[in-house]
Amino acid sequence: MRVCVVGTGYVGLVTGVCLAHLGHHVVCVDNNAEKVTLMQSGQSPIYEPELTEILQASLQAGTLEFTTHLAAGVAHGQIVFIAVGTPALPNGESDTRYVEAVAREIGSYLNGEYKVIVNKSTVPIGSGDWVRMLVLDGYAKCALTEAPVAIRESIAMGMSASQDKAIPSSTPLMKEPAFDVVSNPEFLREGSAVYDTFNPDRIVLGGSSKTAIALMEELYAPIVNRDCAKDHNRSLPPVPVVLTDLNSAEMIKYAANAFLATKISFINEVANICDRVGADITEVAKGIGLDSRIGSRFLQAGIGWGGSCFPKDVSALIHTADDYGYEAQLLKAVVQVNQHQRLLIVKKLQQTLKILKGKTVGLLGLTFKPNTDDLRDAPALSIIGQLSRLGAKIKAYDPILSQANSPHKLADVIIDSTPEQLAEGCDALVLVTDWQEFRDLDYAYLATLMQSRILIDGRNFLDQQVLEAAGFQYVGIGR
Ligand code: UDX
Repeated sequence: MRVCVVGTGYVGLVTGVCLAHLGHHVVCVDNNAEKVTLMQSGQSPIYEPELTEILQASLQAGTLEFTTHLAAGVAHGQIVFIAVGTPALPNGESDTRYVEAVAREIGSYLNGEYKVIVNKSTVPIGSGDWVRMLVLDGYAKCALTEAPVAIRESIAMGMSASQDKAIPSSTPLMKEPAFDVVSNPEFLREGSAVYDTFNPDRIVLGGSSKTAIALMEELYAPIVNRDCAKDHNRSLPPVPVVLTDLNSAEMIKYAANAFLATKISFINEVANICDRVGADITEVAKGIGLDSRIGSRFLQAGIGWGGSCFPKDVSALIHTADDYGYEAQLLKAVVQVNQHQRLLIVKKLQQTLKILKGKTVGLLGLTFKPNTDDLRDAPALSIIGQLSRLGAKIKAYDPILSQANSPHKLADVIIDSTPEQLAEGCDALVLVTDWQEFRDLDYAYLATLMQSRILIDGRNFLDQQVLEAAGFQYVGIGR
């Protein structure tokens, strides 16, 4: 099938590359010319396992193209994905200006061929109808510049051209453009986005047009039938497809992320109680997770959730509820617990080191989770802010970030290039991100390089016995 993906951020790029890998002919559009040139040369602008390999293979196979020309992309696609960013505004609301601009522009390029316009960006509930209106508006504005005076007047007066009986229906500009809007939220985790695309738990399609849904089902058929699944998933039944209305599809995305964030804040709250009563949260999580009604995943206590989705989506849902006269008290508490949890590390450092002014703290990991270079809303940033207010010297080592490629927001942090360099002269180490390689460090050697041997395990990720045998005072979360 012919596909256009507008926006090559995380979601857009992974979606475009994976669909091209399935054999669809995909044109990815981005207005950043430098980025487009980079992708045309076979490089991925983001770090994501497996992505570069399949991007290059699809370029070579001729199923993937990159361009800055939205008009060409829209002309190409039977299915046009809108996958541009919807960042959070300071008040928690989603900033939908990029979706708005793209939807209008898509409208202005509609050429008479029926198209499915797919909302892949996480957009506020109700955006499906809004996008439809914007596409029509873009089409009408474009038509206005070319249409005869009578038509221009009718469109300018807000009339849909097809409703205006005075204008002959044979006039091409009188026809409403042929398209439908579908909501198709993504549930990709950074660090395993390619795997998640080919092995999803479900596919959600929201919309009322049978034609549009049928085309979307055709597009996803290889995934639904597990043709591209990993071996261990191939024998599973087909991937469930949830067919629903636009608003429910949009709500599914918010509710899923809010539920997962709630699960983490819940286990973190229980961990804080464990800390006080002398229970071990890792045992408690195991014990409750075996109850199939609860499930064992997302019960890893630690310094809380971050990233590009959970913080933004939970805030946006609280904001939407507020707009409709409902106070989302539980979700507000979920956010509060998370904010508190990030700073717990600093409290634990104060309990062990007492005065932090002039002390050197080494952070193992900076990104919000392993296998990504993403620092968006990373707990590390809150911890760094608080430590620097308290006068501590902050060093860090991250497997993917170096002094050269670290962003400006880390200006106060010395980024070391090895864990050994990090440990040198530190009063304490803090494990911030659960990168696999941190499990296998030579902690006995690192201990010899440090000023004092304290390790705060912000993810309950390391083996306490190994650390203690290496001479560390080990401090976990809720254990
Ligand atoms: C999330 C959703 O999982 C995905 O479905 C959605 O499309 C985008 O948002 P992502 O942000 O990539 O994906 O990361 P995820 O693996 O869900 O972790 C989010 C945060 O929660 C990370 O900061 C992680 O460290 C933290 N986390 C996760 C915990 O603290 N404990 C857990 O048990 C699980």
